[in-house]
Amino acid sequence: MSTAPATLHEDLELIDPAGGSERCPTDQLGTVPLAEERAFAAWQQDIPREYLHLPAEELDRRIRRARAALGERLVILGHHYQRDEVIRYADFTGDSFKLSQHAAAQERAEYVVFCGVHFMAESADILTRPDVRVILPNMSAGCSMADMADPDDVLAAWDEIAEVVGDGVRVLPITYMNSAASLKAFTGRHGGMVCTSSNAAKAFAWALEQADKILFFPDQHLGRNTAYALGIGLEEMVVWDWRRPLGGLTPAQVQAARVILWQGHCSTHLRFSVEQIVRARAEHPGVRIIVHPECRWEVVQAADDYGSTEKIAKVISEAPAGSVWGVGTEINLVNRLAKQNPDKTVFCLDPVVCPCSTMYRIHPAYVAWVLEELVEGRVVNEVRVDDETRRWALVALERMLALP
Ligand code: 13P
Repeated sequence: MSTAPATLHEDLELIDPAGGSERCPTDQLGTVPLAEERAFAAWQQDIPREYLHLPAEELDRRIRRARAALGERLVILGHHYQRDEVIRYADFTGDSFKLSQHAAAQERAEYVVFCGVHFMAESADILTRPDVRVILPNMSAGCSMADMADPDDVLAAWDEIAEVVGDGVRVLPITYMNSAASLKAFTGRHGGMVCTSSNAAKAFAWALEQADKILFFPDQHLGRNTAYALGIGLEEMVVWDWRRPLGGLTPAQVQAARVILWQGHCSTHLRFSVEQIVRARAEHPGVRIIVHPECRWEVVQAADDYGSTEKIAKVISEAPAGSVWGVGTEINLVNRLAKQNPDKTVFCLDPVVCPCSTMYRIHPAYVAWVLEELVEGRVVNEVRVDDETRRWALVALERMLALP
């Protein structure tokens, strides 16, 4: 088994990342050998050559063998958006909040393999004991929304806002879990906290009890939906465009706002529209619509319910037999819910929605690679947060974990 990945990208026939079209049929998500996967050559992390052409059954055999050899030294965490061929190896599955609780609760494991994206692995590293090694199977599995909040831009915004609002006004920063560890540390240092989609309302209420304003980043939609549900009017919120001086706002707008929303978004959730909901209601009388709060405000308003991936899974699994569900979130989770609830009809509101392209980068070949390296005593793809960042990010994460 080689340790240093060979550079393979130039050997591979380049596959059009968009598959020649923006459409991604939902019935074509089965796992093929990594080399044949759409867009592999364009954006995946290099991996030793031997893993490239392994079929799904062989990867399955090798992952199971490595897992058995590692025993209790290993814990695998899997986010709901992972494909079936990866989530089946997870010791624990959940939304980002539940997975952070599982990471914090690990007492025996030496290794946590996080099948999710980079910010989740960073949070797991912060929440586990310092000697636990956290591994992200494919280092290119990031989050484009998290990348929309560049730490330098947030720091600059913080200073600009402070200057405009003056000394007597308290602003608290809250960061969505989908953000760099350095931004979690920033919120910790400034009295704020981290939140996820399952506790954003509690985090906002906590902040508004003690401060005049919230600066929330990076997802404007989760921020808007959360604040609105707490009774804050849309006219009391402003969007901070990080590309422009003072966020593209006037000093008076910043002074009047109760919630300042960073101009970030999730591309997967922005695909859902009110028109899709109207069509679903026309085609399926009695359908219930549930969406993720990263969807636009109008979409959340038009839905019957909304919540984190864990809440969506819970609501559908507890619904009566025969009920019909139109769902606005990532396709791997929706397809799984349809399979797990054969007595109900569960469908994605967008019939051609793509999977979250970064979550999808955890192909079983990467899981096999990192586990087989661990069996050999080698840690590849470790995610480690430096001590100073860790100290303050932990403060912000622990404030979240302490919410009632
Ligand atoms: P959840 O916390 O609802 O699982 O959301 C995770 C996420 O990253 C959505 O983009």
